[in-house]
Amino acid sequence: MNRKILVMALIGGGVAFCSFAFRPAPTVQGEHENNLKVLPKDISHDELMQVMHSFEVATGMNCGDCHASSATDPSKMDWAADTEHKQTTIAMMKMVAEMNKQYFAVEGNFKDNYLQSQFEVTCITCHNGHEEPSNLVTIPIPVKR
Ligand code: HEC
Ligand code: HEC
Repeated sequence: MNRKILVMALIGGGVAFCSFAFRPAPTVQGEHENNLKVLPKDISHDELMQVMHSFEVATGMNCGDCHASSATDPSKMDWAADTEHKQTTIAMMKMVAEMNKQYFAVEGNFKDNYLQSQFEVTCITCHNGHEEPSNLVTIPIPVKR
């Protein structure tokens, strides 16, 4: 009886170990390990594209403004490669999460808060469709003498 339980336990442990050891690393399109820093590594393709298209609208920029073409085949894009605008955007994503958490008590991860419109201050608040935020009126107002 005890031996039976021991054998069962060994088999169970082995199965658990194998499924852990051979679980594939999460990827975006199942082709390569992705390079995501703020978004979750296992984000679905649809959600990733929803974020990317929203970034385009918020900043008036296109995919190619933030992403580079492949170093080996310039006819293709290398989405995972780092560019200056991509780095700036990652810093902006961290800033947005941080300011919402600190000043507006919005807890949780960037992806869910962004896609569920939980942020009080987000990309469009400042950028309003422009690459560089521009002021509609001059603040502070000039003092009349
Ligand atoms: C304003 C800048 C910006 C624009 C515009 C933009 N992206 Fe991105 N993209 C990023 C950033 C930043 C990341 C990485 C996010 C992170 O690290 O969490 C990213 C990540 C990605 C990834 C995943 C890369 C990887 O590591 O595997 C893909 C794919 C992608 N973008 C496609 C697109 C497509 C397609 C468009 C146009 C529809 C687009 N992006 C537009 C900034 C941008
Ligand atoms: C609190 C206001 C604010 C928010 C929120 C904000 N940005 Fe920015 N962003 C700025 C300012 C200001 C600059 C210009 C900095 C400069 O000129 O050096 C900038 C610059 C950028 C740039 C570089 C543009 C260029 O050509 O130099 C990108 C890309 C960008 N932001 C993307 C984003 C994205 C995407 C989000 C949301 C995740 C976001 N920003 C949220 C204020 C903001």
